[in-house]
Amino acid sequence: MSLSIIPQPRKIAENGEFFQLKPTTRIIAEGTALPAAELLAEYLRTSTGYELPIASGTLQPGDLCLEVTGSDSADEYGFYDETYRLEITAQGVKLSGASCAALIRGIQTLRQLLPAEIYASSKQEAEWTAPGCVVEDSPSVRWRGVMIDVSRHFFPVAQVCRMIELAAQLKLSVVHLHLTDDQGWRLEIKKYPKLTEVGSIRKRTIVGHYWDKPWKYDETPYGGFFTQEDIKAIVAFAAKRRIMVVPEIDMPGHMVAAIAAYPELGNYPQHQLEVRDCWGISYNILSPKPETIAFMKDVLAEVVELFPAKFIDIGGDEALKYEWEICKEVQEVMHAQGIKKESELQHYFTNEMGNFLASKGRRTIGWDDILNPEMPADAAVMNWHGADIIKEAARINRKVVLTPHEFTYFDYYQADPKHEPLGIGGDLPLEKVYRFEPLDSHYSDAEKATILGAQAQLWAEYIPTPEHQEYMAFPRLCALAEKTWLCGATPGYANFHKRLANYYDIFAQQHVNARPLE
Ligand code: ACM
Repeated sequence: MSLSIIPQPRKIAENGEFFQLKPTTRIIAEGTALPAAELLAEYLRTSTGYELPIASGTLQPGDLCLEVTGSDSADEYGFYDETYRLEITAQGVKLSGASCAALIRGIQTLRQLLPAEIYASSKQEAEWTAPGCVVEDSPSVRWRGVMIDVSRHFFPVAQVCRMIELAAQLKLSVVHLHLTDDQGWRLEIKKYPKLTEVGSIRKRTIVGHYWDKPWKYDETPYGGFFTQEDIKAIVAFAAKRRIMVVPEIDMPGHMVAAIAAYPELGNYPQHQLEVRDCWGISYNILSPKPETIAFMKDVLAEVVELFPAKFIDIGGDEALKYEWEICKEVQEVMHAQGIKKESELQHYFTNEMGNFLASKGRRTIGWDDILNPEMPADAAVMNWHGADIIKEAARINRKVVLTPHEFTYFDYYQADPKHEPLGIGGDLPLEKVYRFEPLDSHYSDAEKATILGAQAQLWAEYIPTPEHQEYMAFPRLCALAEKTWLCGATPGYANFHKRLANYYDIFAQQHVNARPLE
């Protein structure tokens, strides 16, 4: 293993030559390859200081040539064929791909073959050589993602974009934003300004662990939200990297911030709630009455306008039904709809949202709590509740993104809690992430076919700062990226660990606060 790339490419053969980037190097591209050429130039210009003009026409020695050989159209899930071929010789670099997204994945491979200083944010003096090789590469699954919780703690646009760029470097395809929760509503909705005016601010925040009683608070207001202009900037930044930004509006549970802003959304409007100041699950949830359903559709209508992603996430996890069981108005809704159980009432709520999103040409996704046979035919779930869900999803022909807490909850501890910053709990060292098998051999073919991919979760109750977010994300996201890119074909943890040591040079150039490697 002389070439060190993460995720490990499917096929790589060295040819003994070397390519050198020079002040005269040009990027040759046209048509659908142009956005990739612009991104490549942006990536390389800063640290080399070279002009790297984008040109069309005949290749000259020393050029970088980018070509899209396929149709560059998205599939029914909004993903692109990411198959690429990268050939590096002393004469130049030829990168061809089935789509512009494929070129962008190949560009990440090329960057990793150059000196790590290529990732620096200022001009560097270096020999910009890359080893000659042919890489033939493609991912095993389409959905390779990371979820960022911006509700429990808010991360500004710059940090979200930084995480998107770091995810792009690892060839991930999805960044999922958990935009709303009990502890803060973080998305401007023009029709309902109080969602952010009131719902984005909590008066104080619990200090220490939720399990440690008595609870203590910091008595300091905490807030933050994305304007619609912020979201446009994030989406554009991600689109340039061919990353789908999947927005999540978590409902009908995890809605205390919204109910605090608009009490009429809840089951007991006469009770003024406050934006939640501690962690854990609230029993206050949305009412399923027509007015609340109409309100949430209005919210989703603005979400659909802001986010071009094929998938829109409606959450759906941990919706405790105590209020629904005792609220007279809710029981009337159940009676009117012929619904016998409160769990079915959640499915009714989900399917109202799902059908609305389908009418806008979007697919619904949510936590696997929402799985039901009446949900829109093209809806999907995120599986955090155990593998039986995959069986059921395959049976009723719905897609699944794997989010098993034991392998993908990156808020879990990475090592002995005695020596780690305060975390939610759990035990997820790097080596365990690498044991995750998204397309495990024990799944049937039908189950494998139902799996769209997998993603890591950065739940943020115990992740208060960008530095801490990076500490929890890296290097574990490197492992998840490799396991989702190659699935069963990964070369083993020892091999990965060696390559990871080199990847720390890349982190260092970008001042990424990765957890030190053991
Ligand atoms: C979840 O962990 N509540 C999806």
